Amino acid sequence: MSSTTSSTGTDQATFWNEEGGRRWVAHIDQLERMLAGLSTVLIDAVAAQPGERVLDVGCGGGPTSNAYARAVGDTGRVLGVDISAVILDVARHRARHIANLEFATADAATHPFEPASFDVVTSRFGVMFFPDPHGAFGNIRRAVRAGGRLCFMCWRGIDENPWMGAPAKAAFSVIPPPEKLPPGSPGPFAFADPAHVRDILASAGFADIELIPHEHRITLGSVDEALEWLTNMGPAATPLAEAGPNARAAAREAMRELLVRHDTPQGVTLDGATWLVRARVP
Ligand SMILES: C[S@@+](CC[C@H](N)C(=O)[O-])C[C@H]1O[C@@H](n2cnc3c(N)ncnc32)[C@H](O)[C@@H]1O
Repeated sequence: MSSTTSSTGTDQATFWNEEGGRRWVAHIDQLERMLAGLSTVLIDAVAAQPGERVLDVGCGGGPTSNAYARAVGDTGRVLGVDISAVILDVARHRARHIANLEFATADAATHPFEPASFDVVTSRFGVMFFPDPHGAFGNIRRAVRAGGRLCFMCWRGIDENPWMGAPAKAAFSVIPPPEKLPPGSPGPFAFADPAHVRDILASAGFADIELIPHEHRITLGSVDEALEWLTNMGPAATPLAEAGPNARAAAREAMRELLVRHDTPQGVTLDGATWLVRARVP
């Protein structure tokens, strides 16, 4: 989702409050449907208990925050933090009747969380965008009590995620790809390398770090729906926007052909691969 969920040359807060945030909101139902199966795996792994205090980082429209609010019940509480005011408007509206769930518009990398005030910190694809991940996870770790846990989901490499990579590759058979960023650059694939993730978490003070591989078939919607959001979001979005009308039409046609090849009665379905990352605060 490089044009949507990372920003090349744009500051993350600007990106997620402007173009990236607007596009996420425009496609939010479809994106959340696509990620719903993965949520179940994450939510089961988080295993939030009645009375617990949960921090959901980069919570977006709050689908996971809502699930944790149900799990912790009246005696627990959930704070969803997101840098995007425009996406949090959706989260706040959806959760307006839920008493134990709050949202804060804040940069989780630097927000002055009350020290040791959470039992668990979690995220569904919301922690790969920090320009300084070591500093950000240090800040997040200080918010968790001793013995508390970290449990989040992030993407493995783009080559293992053809649901995002294959349509972009089809477009790049026609138009030039974007400039390649160094591995680990903020963006959806920043945490592809397990050694990088371990280094960040260990230096932030987490212990018992585990990365569990998880594969999942991702359904992108109908061919038309998939083509529409993949044109506006993902690695091909900016190159498509910058291409001339003929090249853009030809690239979209190449993407459509790829999507048609993966169409099923349930919609276009391609493979996805994640890390489920778990750690503990000593
Ligand atoms: C890929 S979206 C995932 C949203 C949500 N967790 C979900 O799965 O539906 C990434 C989210 O991280 C948020 N984000 C990026 N950088 C952030 C930061 N430094 N602090 C808090 N949120 C951040 C974005 O605004 C966006 O909502």
